[in-house]
Amino acid sequence: MSTTVEELKQRSGAVSAKELAGDRESRATVGDVTVADPRMVCRAVDVWYGDKQAINGVSLDIGKNEVVSMIGPSGCGKTTFLRCLNRMNDTIDGCRVTGSITLDGQEIYDKGLDPVPLRARVGMVFQKPNPFPKSIYENVAYGPRIHGLTNNRAELDELVTSSLQKAGLWEEVKDRLGQPGTGLSGGQQQRLCIARTIAVSPEVILMDEPCSALDPIATAVIEELIDELRANYSIAIVTHSMQQAARVSQRTAYFHLGDLIEVGETNQIFTNPRHKLTEDYITGRFG
Ligand SMILES: Nc1ncnc2c1ncn2[C@@H]1O[C@H](COP(=O)(O)OP(=O)(O)O)[C@@H](O)[C@H]1O
Ligand SMILES: [Mg+2]
Repeated sequence: MSTTVEELKQRSGAVSAKELAGDRESRATVGDVTVADPRMVCRAVDVWYGDKQAINGVSLDIGKNEVVSMIGPSGCGKTTFLRCLNRMNDTIDGCRVTGSITLDGQEIYDKGLDPVPLRARVGMVFQKPNPFPKSIYENVAYGPRIHGLTNNRAELDELVTSSLQKAGLWEEVKDRLGQPGTGLSGGQQQRLCIARTIAVSPEVILMDEPCSALDPIATAVIEELIDELRANYSIAIVTHSMQQAARVSQRTAYFHLGDLIEVGETNQIFTNPRHKLTEDYITGRFG
């Protein structure tokens, strides 16, 4: 690559996708990877599993109060890239991440940075709802307890209540907070997981196909919630549903074989894609 990550980090303002791709012309992302007011800035991110490269020099900003969706055929690296954003890949043996990713200007891969508080600031909601085998209350109280966010039971009660309210679950569970989280319906469990994420005051919420295990009604509830959450958080969502990406996100990023092929306003990506590969995917010729 002709430009080092250090050089990229030192530059201020917009850097074009072409510049970022350096001499790797074929990998240049089409569209503007930057936003005016970024929460997270990813530059020239490479990811390897052993000697197999899964992400190739991806650069992308995640703005404040926006939902960015990540789409692309199975195996193109969506989950891998998402997991870079809160260093979840650290937990995978043989996985190596290079490049630069900042959160509010701070390099999240700095050696001195503790990934545990990072994962509170950049929370994650998984494909399959995964409540802890604990009560509804304890599922939400768990994070605030381990991060020492409240001083007494009244404050914790308040935080559990407000988190469940923000996740749109309070009315459905307020009379049974002591019952197991695993006894809820799939859609409720996923909202419980969102409440658990919200309880530790994240700035960014990562969602990896959060509705793929849910029925259409539960999906619609989560999609509405995602739109509401945008007022307070940045959200990056991986989805295999183009309809979902179109419904919930303002920007869409199209991945293909580890490359970020194209990024743009969601509407533009779906109605007027500029790259042939994006067009092939959204018109159903590939994927
Ligand atoms: N834990 C892992 N170990 C080795 N290879 C992996 C691992 N996870 C994903 N991969 C590989 O990385 C590539 C991207 O996978 P993934 O990020 O899961 O794609 P997507 O989420 O778009 O389906 C695939 O080739 C996949 O086989
Ligand atoms: Mg995936």
